[in-house]
Amino acid sequence: MRESLVRKSDVASTTPVIAVTEATLHDVLAELGDAAKSWCALNDYIGRPGTFLLVPGANGIGAAVLFGTEQTELPHPFALGGLVNALPAGDYHLADGFPDPEQAALGFALSAYSFGRYLKDAGKTRRLAVADEFDLDRLGVILDGVKLARDLINTPANDLGPGELSQAAAVLFRQHGGTGRIVIGDDLLEENFPMVHAVGRASPRAPRLADFTWGSDSDPKITLVGKGVIFDTGGLNLKPGSSMSLMKKDMGGAANVLGLAAMIMATKLPVRLRVIIPCVENAVSGNAFRPGDVLQSRKGLTVEIGNTDAEGRLVLADALALGDEESPDLMIDMATLTGAARVALGPDLPPFFTDDEVLADDMAVMAEAAADPLWRLPLWRPYMKYLDSKIADLNHINTSGTGFAGSITAALFLSRFVENAGSWAHFDIYGWTPMEKPGKPAGGEAQGIRSLFDLICDRYSDTQ
Ligand code: BES
Ligand code: MN
Ligand code: ZN
Repeated sequence: MRESLVRKSDVASTTPVIAVTEATLHDVLAELGDAAKSWCALNDYIGRPGTFLLVPGANGIGAAVLFGTEQTELPHPFALGGLVNALPAGDYHLADGFPDPEQAALGFALSAYSFGRYLKDAGKTRRLAVADEFDLDRLGVILDGVKLARDLINTPANDLGPGELSQAAAVLFRQHGGTGRIVIGDDLLEENFPMVHAVGRASPRAPRLADFTWGSDSDPKITLVGKGVIFDTGGLNLKPGSSMSLMKKDMGGAANVLGLAAMIMATKLPVRLRVIIPCVENAVSGNAFRPGDVLQSRKGLTVEIGNTDAEGRLVLADALALGDEESPDLMIDMATLTGAARVALGPDLPPFFTDDEVLADDMAVMAEAAADPLWRLPLWRPYMKYLDSKIADLNHINTSGTGFAGSITAALFLSRFVENAGSWAHFDIYGWTPMEKPGKPAGGEAQGIRSLFDLICDRYSDTQ
């Protein structure tokens, strides 16, 4: 992705991408010459927003790409991503006057991702040459974070178990001089992470809790917690095959917080960053936890199990309780937590939950500006009663029989394990693009972390 953007001064010859509108196409073609003009006519190309056409010069060789756009803005944020897999391999640049070149370049680069791990031939490359004054470093940091998140999600569970996921955190923090530890298997009981252990113990690949920090203790503390369920069979409440097929992505929260952590550390923001990731496989075995079990939690609350498929909130609860113990200024968790979030908002618009009104407002602004959409849902206290249990401090799912408000009740459950953090926000993400669109290749997806990175930079940079 980062490689898809180069500096104009570093490449010899590039094909221009010329922004046209239905009104300006005629004049542009007059400049380009007769070959381009008749090629457009042959192809019925009239410069509609979002459409494009490679046109020849007089010698028959590709001379320019015409790209239909609005007068002053792109037809949609990642519009230029549509070109990436359609143009011949080679180098391109945006002609003068192209609307929003930074956004266009971001769309191009986000589309120029492919998951090549299992392919002999990773495919053709197209590059976009950008102006020299362009802040390629910051964009590169963002692209690297997104790539890390996508790669981790796309890696199937046979090659990404709890061990490999926790190692990914270790490697990332080591690269940036961070430190930490991984609590493994029965040590989770010793160290008081009973719910991480209960959810993960049925897998031959032992459960783990990765806990890493970076930065100076005197700086504001930001803690990121990510759901790292490397595969979710549902456990004894086994998912039907159709619901299970995508469940390698159930570590999408962990992948996203690692992507965000990578951006923060690469930028050397003056914060003390901590990442906590429970890494488990929700598997089926004779020693699996069961519906009806009552679990102890790190926080001391007892939890009655209503459904072993609501495993994410259990492992997150112990991780959040750990993070909360040192009262961070800001604690964020990300998780592919509920199907209900998708029912409410669809795959491309993740809900987030927080009681911090200022944070919620800032998130909305950042999400809009970054074209990384998010939508606030309420931590609606009256629904807390849905989590009542007769035999434990609380149930982890809605036991009222209605099955309503599943994303909200999951968030309310988590809220019971956060008391001391200055602010807390929970993101119920999908982590996956079902069908390719500009800027969004099909498969694992980063959601919310570009917005969050902007927000964190805005709040905590020295220079701001
Ligand atoms: N990982 C799933 C949620 C999920 C499913 C996210 C599909 C994205 C796509 C989670 O562990 C789960 O199974 N949740 C259950 C909870 C229910 C049993 C209360 C759900 O949403 O159905
Ligand atoms: Mn589940
Ligand atoms: Zn799950």
